Amino acid sequence: MDKRLSVEFAGLQLRSPIILASSGITKAFENVKKADHYGAGAVVLKSKFEEELMAHSPTPRFTVIRRGKKDYCSTTNMSYEQGYEGSIEDYCNEIRQCKVAGLETKIIASIGCSTKECWVKWAKMVEEAGADAIEMNLSCPHSDYVIAQTGHINQMVAEMVPAVVAAVDIPVFSKMTPQLENPSITAQVMEQSGAKALTAFSRCLGMDIDIDAQKPVLHGGYGGHGGPWAIHYALRWISEMYNKVSVPISGCGGVVEGDDIIKYILAGSTTVQVCFMIYAYGYSVIEGLNQHLLGYMDKHGYQSVLDFRGIVTGSRIKGLKDVDRRKTLIATVDQEKCVGCKRCQNMCIFDGIGFDDEKKKAFINKKCDGCGLCPSFCPTGSISMIKR
Ligand SMILES: Cc1cc2nc3c(=O)[nH]c(=O)nc-3n(C[C@H](O)[C@H](O)[C@H](O)COP(=O)(O)O)c2cc1C
Ligand code: SF4
Ligand code: SF4
Repeated sequence: MDKRLSVEFAGLQLRSPIILASSGITKAFENVKKADHYGAGAVVLKSKFEEELMAHSPTPRFTVIRRGKKDYCSTTNMSYEQGYEGSIEDYCNEIRQCKVAGLETKIIASIGCSTKECWVKWAKMVEEAGADAIEMNLSCPHSDYVIAQTGHINQMVAEMVPAVVAAVDIPVFSKMTPQLENPSITAQVMEQSGAKALTAFSRCLGMDIDIDAQKPVLHGGYGGHGGPWAIHYALRWISEMYNKVSVPISGCGGVVEGDDIIKYILAGSTTVQVCFMIYAYGYSVIEGLNQHLLGYMDKHGYQSVLDFRGIVTGSRIKGLKDVDRRKTLIATVDQEKCVGCKRCQNMCIFDGIGFDDEKKKAFINKKCDGCGLCPSFCPTGSISMIKR
């Protein structure tokens, strides 16, 4: 592995910033071996929950929801996968197998408990089994405290994180739900409570409806929702948290191509977690993500991920008062490329697009506001924005 990819993350030396996120893709030694083979820096093992019910997943538990029109659509992966199915002893045996095999991939255990006693007991057990770190699952979209949103997540963090930190010598990370009023505040509480790193984020709880059966799809209830779209919310909050906490951040959510890894690092992440992309395409994509990252570093002359971490934060991000509000742009149509489909004319709410019936071509008129929307919908890429 190219040394330029290696990062230090909360005291762990990782050969790559790419981490496989906690889920079925990291549930057992056999899965972790694949992650190791293809070059993951670390894996966060599937979460082991204290609540017994959370060890049993229904079938089916996955679906991909594609909705909308061809040029305006979303792809959502919905799942109702529960926690690790075996006992905590089985879980520790998976960790032992990974360590005995001498994998280069670091092993981060993930536990989710309801009582302080269990948090402490299990933290000690996974440490003793050889885990390199612990990610506290304070974020599961199916758990009571995330569903209820009774505002006590910060209180729970302040109580449970110090207890786990005090119980073990390995680094303790804290994973966040995106379903918070202000994730930056929770991130600060996590840091003050002793977390050595933050994972932002887990997934949202959502629902889709079968309109004829008149009930929720899949298992019949709310489920975890994610998809390529999820990255934008995470980038926004990570870029804000970057200057509010000093512990490193592991960006997570919506990675579907190599550029997404780069975006997470530019927004302030030191590592990036990938989950559903592996379910959808298999473990070999890790290799491509590492190569893509190196390609970007070559292009910009970076020797380390830290050379570009956090560039798109702080003053790079315009606030309310900084945005240039002058109407400086107008659309223009490349007459050669226009095929006369009228897609643009039908949608412009400013009536800024005329149509030459003889030539069968669209043209921009002076009502164009410069809003910038029509280039996103022209099927032939004929429209661009120019200075007025
Ligand atoms: C099927 C599935 C199971 C998951 N199980 C867990 C889990 O046990 N513990 C956890 O912390 N996060 C779990 N997650 C959340 C992922 O670790 C990750 O935070 C989330 O999927 C966002 O990443 P992605 O957009 O790359 O999928 C799960 C996600 C999926 C899709
Ligand atoms: S959408 Fe594009 S191709 Fe269609 S009429 Fe407008 S400019 Fe021409
Ligand atoms: S840029 Fe906006 S206002 Fe101008 S033509 Fe396109 S959609 Fe209409």
